Amino acid sequence: MTQPSDSERLSSFVLGLYGEDPYAHVYRASEEHRESHGEQCGVYPSSPLSMRLVSLLIRATAAKRILEIGCGLGYSALHLAAADPDGSVDTIDRFPQHVSLALENVSAAGFSQRIRILKGEADNVLPTLSGPYDLVYDDGWFVQEPAYLETMLDLIRPGGLLVMSNWFPLQDAVLGHSDIDWSGFSGPDWADRIQAYARKLATHPRLHLAFALPRLGLAVKTK
Ligand SMILES: C[S@@+](CC[C@H](N)C(=O)[O-])C[C@H]1O[C@@H](n2cnc3c(N)ncnc32)[C@H](O)[C@@H]1O
Ligand SMILES: [Zn+2]
Repeated sequence: MTQPSDSERLSSFVLGLYGEDPYAHVYRASEEHRESHGEQCGVYPSSPLSMRLVSLLIRATAAKRILEIGCGLGYSALHLAAADPDGSVDTIDRFPQHVSLALENVSAAGFSQRIRILKGEADNVLPTLSGPYDLVYDDGWFVQEPAYLETMLDLIRPGGLLVMSNWFPLQDAVLGHSDIDWSGFSGPDWADRIQAYARKLATHPRLHLAFALPRLGLAVKTK
């Protein structure tokens, strides 16, 4: 049996502080689903640590209208909805299999009235939505700038939040070495593309950005 890595041990300690994840079963189902769906699937559920932080941001900013790109089986959407009993979540996924499994999970959690699942490509669905949203959680993009960036920004209210997961390959791109060959997912110039997207967001006239990358040593609380 392989020993847990240092970062796995640290994550497990912090998760233990938070107590039981009410949607851990959906996380596990998402992992199992990915094995059976095949290469195109892409359901890598958000980390429970990330969802704790995003839930805190929802509470701290009193965000009520939330948009998610990349529903998967609904793991993160359930956390987004649970963060505020008065909140509502619109979430998008391209695969009908994901949408139907997510609908079951949302219904079982009692959130059918507050989570709306939209099937389609984000590029096509976003222009049909009416903003403003208080918070957008982009869990669909990977490595490169998505074509929907400006449409997504149009949907966020002034002062609203854009939270993006999936920045973990940035560390590998900057340090120039990696345990995982990201080119298999994202092409040979993946390292240039993710750094170019980071630069674009950091200097974007409509955004003020901060990265919460590994080893930041930051803890945030709401009262
Ligand atoms: C990293 S997974 C995230 C899943 C989910 N947020 C969770 O926590 O389980 C990405 C999901 O986004 C979907 N997706 C990725 N890009 C998309 C796009 N441009 N339009 C629609 N769905 C997309 C994939 O089908 C996949 O289910
Ligand atoms: Zn899948």
